[in-house]
Amino acid sequence: MHLRRIAAILAASFTLGLPAWAQQLIASATSPDQLIGVEVQVDGGGKLGYTVKRRGKEVIGLSRLGFNLANAQKLDGGFSLREQKLSEHDGTWEQPWGERQFVRNRYRELRVAVEQKNKGNRRLDIVFRIYDDGIGFRYEFPAQPQLRNVEILDELTEFTVAQPATAWWIPAGELPGLEEEVRKAPLKEIGIANTPLTLRLDDGTHIAFHEAALVDYASMWLRKVDGQKLRAMLAPSSYGPAVVRQGAFTTPWRTVQIADSAAGLAMSDLILNLNEPNKLGDVSWVKPSKFVGVWWEMHLQSGTWNAGPKHAANTANTKRYIDFAAKNGFRGVLVEGWNQGWESDWGHGGADFSFTRSYPDFDLPGLAAYAKSKGVRLIGHHETGANVPAYEKQMDAAYKLYAKHGVDSVKSGYVHEAGSALFTGRDGKPRYGHYDSQDGVRHFLKAVTEAAKYRIAIDTHEPVKDTGLRRTYPNWMTREGARGVEYNAWGNPPNSVDHEAKLVFTRMLSGPMDYTPGVVNLVGADGKVFNSTQAKQLANFVVIYSPLVMAADLPENYEKYPAAFKFIRDVPTDWADTRVLNGEVGEFVTIARKARGSQDWYLGAVTDGQARSLVLPLGFLEQGKRYTAEIYRDGDGADYRTERRFDLVTETRTVTSGDTLQLKLAPGGGQAIRFSPQDRK
Ligand code: NOJ
Repeated sequence: MHLRRIAAILAASFTLGLPAWAQQLIASATSPDQLIGVEVQVDGGGKLGYTVKRRGKEVIGLSRLGFNLANAQKLDGGFSLREQKLSEHDGTWEQPWGERQFVRNRYRELRVAVEQKNKGNRRLDIVFRIYDDGIGFRYEFPAQPQLRNVEILDELTEFTVAQPATAWWIPAGELPGLEEEVRKAPLKEIGIANTPLTLRLDDGTHIAFHEAALVDYASMWLRKVDGQKLRAMLAPSSYGPAVVRQGAFTTPWRTVQIADSAAGLAMSDLILNLNEPNKLGDVSWVKPSKFVGVWWEMHLQSGTWNAGPKHAANTANTKRYIDFAAKNGFRGVLVEGWNQGWESDWGHGGADFSFTRSYPDFDLPGLAAYAKSKGVRLIGHHETGANVPAYEKQMDAAYKLYAKHGVDSVKSGYVHEAGSALFTGRDGKPRYGHYDSQDGVRHFLKAVTEAAKYRIAIDTHEPVKDTGLRRTYPNWMTREGARGVEYNAWGNPPNSVDHEAKLVFTRMLSGPMDYTPGVVNLVGADGKVFNSTQAKQLANFVVIYSPLVMAADLPENYEKYPAAFKFIRDVPTDWADTRVLNGEVGEFVTIARKARGSQDWYLGAVTDGQARSLVLPLGFLEQGKRYTAEIYRDGDGADYRTERRFDLVTETRTVTSGDTLQLKLAPGGGQAIRFSPQDRK
């Protein structure tokens, strides 16, 4: 390098009186329990960085903060501190529905306002919220004439994991979206990952990277740049910078949840806490509940979505499901394939769908009235084939039609090939791109807020990942966003035996999942078998949380297995409290949940391919009360690899909070228990 160039670089790096490599601490704060500490630093070149320690030990080593812009010089380097502000918050808020009714939100907030003196005095605030269970931080762009239009090419935010770690991850930007099997690998071997990205550090600490409140911004992927260092990578736009915003705005929160154990991680409410409170007002019309549906038969290929001799969404068949729902206490009946347009190659276009015209053999008004007379509601379905412009044109009329017929929840679908969802771009033109690009993020929320106008709740399939927006928009009840049970219908291959034990500590950290549990027949299309015992199918209702839950199997299969079906009929979907009692990522997990408005507790435990005996103290039950425990367990020889997968033993016992149970789980097995107080006072 030329000497004069070296001299120039050196001069630039001493702008703050420090050499480029030297760090100056400009702000710091700790969590309320003082165990987590964040330090914000600048180097001699004015580049911003932060570190996170827990119990004095580094969890996140020095990691950069900043942006590359498309329309202006980068927001990186030349920064100096303008001011810092420390504040505290401690409050409890109530969820209209959820894993627990009351959520404590206690944190310390550190606002670090910085300025680029040598680049037109551009300003940026970085706001950290430090909780006992991790941290969140976001960038806040103040309104400033020198940066009115912000075109973000890339975020420079880094997460330098301070210890060797094992990662559970799925690739980002690939087919089929969020529906990859969760992979396990040393952190240094992963590629571009989606979040939540869960890590177990070598000292046993568990951490998860994710984001909260993803609104009008591109989804954050994580790219490994060097050793253990990850860098934010914004889901790209196909026709411009990843993010374009005007005026003052904030980015989503970048989050690092930290716990001593996997179970601790799954207990964290940090993502919800970082979201804005409910903006919809009265949401008593959002009803947590279970449903059945004209669905599994299409995945088994005994029925079709499109018209023809096997058309499943016909009036007579739908009546059969309505009768079954009414008889067994299900609130909803989902009907897929009721609307015209399924004849086309809808996974590659979706342009032919009508969201208001039924097939001639499906009598929407008649069926809605029939359902109502039986105390049941139809659940709507909008498969869009990820053709968002076509859907948005019809969306208002579609919701209006459903609202007219008392349909108060809609499952939507965005089946497409990675990178080829069609959106209305920022420029108003139809644009192909990633489902989790800024355009995608805008649409998914728009569908939810438009639905709210008609008091309709949404269950999104092939969705953008959950970032806790259900707190702000409680009608965004659930979504898919991982491999659901449908993969077991298709085979090639079915979901792995450790799938649920991985999901709880990865995907489920982001929020509820429409997993479609409870296929007690354990068989997919063409006789393909599940990697599960029957008891595990029951446990999944407790383990995989969703306020809206589909009991996915065919009515005739539930009639065939009445003992198993009893638990599915009994289990609620809305909880006053949740305790993750034990677990290791991808190995096993036990969760107990207290039903809302009741004194009953429900427990679910699942294991991977290993048989396990879990010792379980019942200390979560109320002291001094006697409970009847209705136990649904794997029989002694049960095994997911043999016909013994159907061995389900049901038994009852009297227990108290002082008792300890031994849960015996078969290979690929599980256990479900309902605890009801014997004296209901
Ligand atoms: C994929 C969804 O996950 C599934 O539940 C649905 O049946 C099909 N798309 C058709 O919309």
